[in-house]
Amino acid sequence: MSELNSIALKILSIGKGILAADESTGTMTKRLDAINIPSTPDNRLLFRETLFSSESMKTCIGGVILYDETIKQNTSSKKTIPELISASGAVPGIKVDTGAKILANSPDEKITEGLDGLRERLKEYYKLGARFAKWRGVYIISDKYPSKLSINTNAHALARYAALVQESGMVPIVEPEVLMDGNHSAEDCFNKTSEVIKKCYEELILNKVDLTGSILKPNMILPGSSSDKKIINEKVAKLTLKCLKETVPTEVPGIAFLSGGQTEIEATENLNLINKHNDTEFIMTYSYGRALQQSALKFWSKDTNNIKGTQDTFNHRANMCSLAAQGKWSEKLETK
Ligand code: 13P
Repeated sequence: MSELNSIALKILSIGKGILAADESTGTMTKRLDAINIPSTPDNRLLFRETLFSSESMKTCIGGVILYDETIKQNTSSKKTIPELISASGAVPGIKVDTGAKILANSPDEKITEGLDGLRERLKEYYKLGARFAKWRGVYIISDKYPSKLSINTNAHALARYAALVQESGMVPIVEPEVLMDGNHSAEDCFNKTSEVIKKCYEELILNKVDLTGSILKPNMILPGSSSDKKIINEKVAKLTLKCLKETVPTEVPGIAFLSGGQTEIEATENLNLINKHNDTEFIMTYSYGRALQQSALKFWSKDTNNIKGTQDTFNHRANMCSLAAQGKWSEKLETK
């Protein structure tokens, strides 16, 4: 087993998933503004340190994706954040893209930037303790989008990123996110997501990326958030599995879904059903941002000194996601 494959398998160990706590300062400021908490470096650290010191880190979290600011911060007990995460048994990771910018010649769409100087930044993050990285490509969906231009350019960037990350001894998380916004059907999401993922693997293979040392972070197959063509969760799970079976090479050890605007319960229930029906060799787990942190953030906003209450709220959500990653969740467990 290669070193990269063993890091990937550690992140994806049974019942574990990824905590995506890599909101940029801009995004985190939006989240904190919404709950009337000043977005200072200390407040951002306090919330994140509270989560990273929770009990469920040991049992439910295999990896944490950090933002540049956080990976360089120290805890109240003078440990570095990667030290705190590693002490719980989880692997520290880092978001390395520098955001999605307007795509030239298709201004409604975005291209993710951050390749310039990436090799040097990766060396620094490795020294700081990171052992995996994340890059997110983002695709809008409508009858004419995503365009071939967006599909090709984002796949190319994801593949160049992944090759550089492996060169620096870390596992790349490849995240092509087809957004939920719009009134498209689940079938449209299925078709466009399949095209996007296929192109990503074409480019990853061309760039000689070792797929056994990588993780895919895709969206689930869902109707658009303003679509009236809703489907039952069983159908979400079956379409998601069909899409991934048809597009992801079998060498990939695991798939860790983004929550993408689903509620905490939806994201948990859909992951649970995906695992109940999973007839593939892929590990299927979570790499949730909002669907792991929303309730904890709300609880914390009422009293930022209530560390225990915030951790209890986070522990519950992480435990529910962990059960869903094993197909063992049920709605009645939510109220226990
Ligand atoms: P969400 O689960 O909130 O979609 O965030 C995951 C993520 O890392 C987006 O890049």
